[in-house]
Formats: sequence, structure tokens, C-alpha cells
Amino acid sequence: MINRTPVLGIAVFLLLLQPIVGEFEALAQGERNAHLLVDSPGGEIVAVFLISDGQPYYSIAYGDVEVMESSRLGVRLQDRPTFEGDVEIVGFDRRAVDETWEQPWGEVRYVRNHFNELSVDLKESNGDRRIRIVFRVFDDGVGFRYEWPEQEGLNDFVIMDELTEFALTDDHEAWWIPAYYVHRYEYLYERSPVSTLGAVHTPLTMETADGLFVSIHEAALTDYASMTLEANGTTTLQAGLVPWSDGTKVKASAPFVSPWRTIQIAETPGGLITSYLVLNLNEPSRIEDTSWIESGKYVGIWWGMHLDNWTWGSGPKHGATTETTRRYIDFAAEHGIDGVLVEGWNIGWDGNWIRNGDLFSFTEPYPDFDLEGVAEYARSKDVYLVGHHETAFGIDNYERQLEDAFALYRRLGVKAVKTGYVDNLAERHELHHGQYMVRHYRKVVQTAARHQVVLDVHEPIKDTGIRRTWPNMMTREGARGMEYNAWADDGGNPPSYETYIPFTRGLSGPFDFTPGVFDLKLDSSMRPEQEARPQMTLAKALAIYVVIYSPLHMAADLVENYEGQPAFKWIQDVPVDWDTTLVLNGEIGDFVTIARKQRGGDEWYVGSVTDEFGRTFRIPLDFLDAGREYVAEIYADAHNADWESKPNNIVIREQRVDADMVLDVRLAPGGGQAIRFRPAAQD
Ligand code: NOJ
Repeated sequence: MINRTPVLGIAVFLLLLQPIVGEFEALAQGERNAHLLVDSPGGEIVAVFLISDGQPYYSIAYGDVEVMESSRLGVRLQDRPTFEGDVEIVGFDRRAVDETWEQPWGEVRYVRNHFNELSVDLKESNGDRRIRIVFRVFDDGVGFRYEWPEQEGLNDFVIMDELTEFALTDDHEAWWIPAYYVHRYEYLYERSPVSTLGAVHTPLTMETADGLFVSIHEAALTDYASMTLEANGTTTLQAGLVPWSDGTKVKASAPFVSPWRTIQIAETPGGLITSYLVLNLNEPSRIEDTSWIESGKYVGIWWGMHLDNWTWGSGPKHGATTETTRRYIDFAAEHGIDGVLVEGWNIGWDGNWIRNGDLFSFTEPYPDFDLEGVAEYARSKDVYLVGHHETAFGIDNYERQLEDAFALYRRLGVKAVKTGYVDNLAERHELHHGQYMVRHYRKVVQTAARHQVVLDVHEPIKDTGIRRTWPNMMTREGARGMEYNAWADDGGNPPSYETYIPFTRGLSGPFDFTPGVFDLKLDSSMRPEQEARPQMTLAKALAIYVVIYSPLHMAADLVENYEGQPAFKWIQDVPVDWDTTLVLNGEIGDFVTIARKQRGGDEWYVGSVTDEFGRTFRIPLDFLDAGREYVAEIYADAHNADWESKPNNIVIREQRVDADMVLDVRLAPGGGQAIRFRPAAQD
């Protein structure tokens, strides 16, 4: 329970005045000093819009706990003294929405979009230019954005800065990764007080002294610069925008809208995971017929390159040969795996490909890879190829070939494409997260949609929920994935890694972690002086399929490492599309247990993972249907397992259970547990 310490903030003061809000609203028109309230449908969250001497602010309260103190709003435009203060209210509007929409695939099937909205129209006091600020208040948080309606005197304009602040009430503990670093989002999460933060990425998750969990992010980043946050010794986070190479931030034409700035609020860390506010703030699907969009599992010619057993480029160790690909297709077909990723199939990888992105062809295969033949072989076995486009940030080269590349894949029945953006500066020296790249990623999503191809993006723009609008934008790596466990200088992702992800990066959307390595000591690696390795037990490797959400999940290991392994049955069984998601327990950076019900079926799957410490939980099974008997197929760490010396020691057993029971779950150091619950009647 949170500690509801009374505060004297403006939000609380205004709450006391609620009976006379109408009067305030009547007064608000034309005012340079006024305030307007909007509360959540359940009444727990209140957002206050305040204008004081022509400067707009907002604040937020959760019950009687202040979450955001008066925080500045506004933008700074180039060559125009506007919206930086000195504005007045010219009108406002309210509406309430309560609707439920269905995800074509997802962590839940139905999402309730329930909010109260306040739109405030402002104009410059010394001019006629207008801006609207819109607040949507949900039971799980607040979103607000800037809108520039069509108007005379404001056509094309350039945003130089956003003045948005998030004035926290205290020096909260925050989990963060740095922004503007060379490996984009691929950093380990750190925990420290907000005041110590330089520029960091969102989502930024925090725990307050009142026991609330708050995460700041953005929704619907479609034609804007990505937002970063910076505190610099204070407890106020200042929004930053990733610049263009010319120093400007956003190039816009009215009518125009910013992404939503989102503040999710929950009483438990798990409450953040089951909040769908960011999705709700995206536009409904622009793809009418989504029947061609399939979630699935795939194996691939990929991990072998990271182990140094194969190369992307041509030569004696070339991975993407016709023969190897057919072998992977055979494996997929035999084991019910949907797709086979093939990296290194196309011309352009020889030499230093990271520096030569403009040399990639996206239509021409290497001579030892019979693209047409392999695609036909895959189709004959009811498996599809997962295509691959590594751009190495040669954006012009890629965009020139985009249409042909996707048309080719569509003709060949390639249903999914993994794209990649190694490097950090695009053509014309544009940064990874600036508006230039946001526009590029959008163009690729739309082109892929036209050709009925789904995307899995490596080195992406951060996820802001655009999968609601473009459901073919399925998943992204966009964090340190499994590959770091093959070669990272720091030894790979530490055992705690997967206990941070659901509460941080995972809040933004699906993460293709490329899980499923069974050879945990990397005995099959040919990489010399190998230091890194997956720091997890086999049971944890399985649990990750539930704990980390992705509609496309990989079985990343060399397929021969799965032969004769009883634990592989879990990867065959586990769904990637869900009806319901529940967080059963969790402490950020320590452990987390998630239960998900399969879409279109009666089975439940539970994944539990821990950091470097062993743990025991008692898990009530009350999420199962009452009065029904289930068989629990349990993949557990053996009594002597640990990630370091005995990672593969696993016990696989079955037990009859029902909703009245409590299950004892034991996790080894760096371990986990994966459980499939199938109704006993199916036996
Ligand atoms: C770098 C990515 O991290 C890796 O996963 C991928 O295989 C290579 N680029 C080639 O695209």
C-alpha cells in the first residue's frame, strides 16, 4: 500500500474546490491566470492545467499524493517569440471516452481505452498564433500533447526546444540508461536518484517515497524528435529533443501534433506492465485487413555468426548457404517452428560492412545462396523465410531499394523481415533518434505494410506504441539482446538483466531478445578467448519466453543444440500471442513472475526469473478456472543448478493442480521456472 502523506500542492488544494470548478471554468476564457482540472474516470488521478501570468503549467495528483508539482509546458519556435510563455486561454473543451478495442496480436486481446480529456486552446497574448494542449487522464496515468491547428500565420515552422518539465516531488529512485551514447539503447539499466541523471532515454521508471511506481515515456512518435530526459542536479526532469544535424529539433507544418508525453502511475511495479496507456494514445489501426499479420517463432542463421562459427560475408565460413538454410528449414518444419531467419544472404557484406552500408544490395543474393529455390523449399514445407535487411545506416542506399526489396520478398512469400541499423549517424549525419530517422522508420513500416510483410527491427527507434496503428510493426531488439552473451567485453548480460527489462524497456513494447540458447557454456563457439556467455540457467532461458513479451520469438541457438533436448518441447509449446497477462510478483532488478493465457485456448503459461540470488515463492493458482483440473508441466532448476557452474541442470515434471492450490516455486541463483498449465481434460 502506498503511504498517502497529505501534501499542500496545488492539485490537492484544487480538489477541495471541486464543487465550484464550473465557476473557474467560466472564468477561464481569455485569462492569463486560471486553472482547469480533469480527473480520471475512477477519480483517483487528477491533472491540473494552470496558466500563471501567461505561462502554462500542469500538475498531477494520485489520490492525495502529489505526483507532479507545477511543471512547465510549452515549446520554443525558431525565429518567433511564441508559446514560450505569454499566452492566454481562448477556449477549452472536454470529452470522455470509454471504448474497448481488440489487438490483432498482443499481450492482451482486448484493451479498454477509458479517459477524460481536456483540450485547452491558447493564443499568444501579443499575436494571433494558436496552440492547443490536450490532456487525457486515465485510471493508470496521464498523457498530454501539443497540437498546432491549421491557422493563418503558422504554416511551416521549426521547433527549437520543448519546455516540458516533469517536476517530481522528491529525489525518487530511478532505473535508467543513458541517451546519446554510441550503442543507442543497448546499455545495462542502472539505479540511482533522479537528481544524478544526465540525459537518459525513456521509458524512465521511478519509485517514489510514497510507494508509487511512475514511468515517463512518450506515445505515437511518428514525425517528431525522440524525447530524452535530463535532471542535472535537480528533481525536475527537463524534456530534451534529439536534434537534426543543423541543430533544429523538429520541422513541422500545421496542422501538426507532438507525440503524447506519458506518465504511467501504479501502486505496484507490475501495475506498470499491465498498463496499456501508451497503446491507447496511438491511433487505431490503419491496416484494415490484418489477417495476413501472423505472430510466430523462428530459428535462424544468425547465432553462428556471433559465435564466429560462420561469417555474414562470402568465403569458406559463409553461413547463409543454400545447404545450411535447407537444413534449418527441415528443422523448423519438423518441430513446428514458423520461420527461418537468414542473415548474410545478400551481396555487400564483404570487407568492413559496418562502414560500407551504401554497398548493400537488397535484391541480389550471394552465388551460394539460391534465394528463389530456398524460398520455394520453405513454402513446400509450410515454413517461411524471415528476410534480412542490414542497412549499416546507409539510409539513402536502402530507401532507393526499399520498394524493390519488399516487392521481391512478397513475391517469394517472405512474411517477416528483420531490419538492422548498426552505427549511429545516418546519411547527412543525422542521429539515430532524431526526426530524420523517425521519418525513415515510418517509411519502412508503411512500405512493408503495403507488401504485407511484418517487421522486427534491430537498432530501432524506441517503441512508442505505433504497433496499434501499424500492426505489422511487430517487435524490435532495441536493448541488449542475447548477442551480448556471445561477445560482450563485460561478460554478457548479468543474471539480474531480465528482472529489469519488463519494468523498463519492456514498458515501451515488444522486445525481440532472441532467447533460447541451450548451450549455455558456449561449448559450440569458435570465438577465440571467449569471455561472455549467457548468465542464466536453462529453466530461466525457457521462462524468458513468457517474462519478455514479443509476438515474434526466436529459438536462437544452433539447431543441432536442440536435438535430443526434452526442454525444447517448451519452446515448441509456448505461444507468442496472448489473451490475458497478469504479473504475479516482482521487484525491479530482483525477480518477476508473469502469467499469460494463450489466445484462443485454455492454457496458461507462467515464467519466473530471478537475479543472481536463489529464491522461493508460493504462487497461488487462483488465475486458473475455478473447479477445473489442470496438468502443470514444470521446467524447474534442479536442486544443484546455478547459472555459473551447472546451468543445464533442469528437472521436467508434471503435477495435477487446480485453482485452489498454491505452488511452491524454487529458483536457483540466476535461475527461473517455466510452467505450462493445460486443462486435464485434454489428456
Ligand atoms: C548487428 C546486430 O547487433 C546483429 O544482431 C546482426 O546480426 C548484425 N548487425 C548484422 O545485421
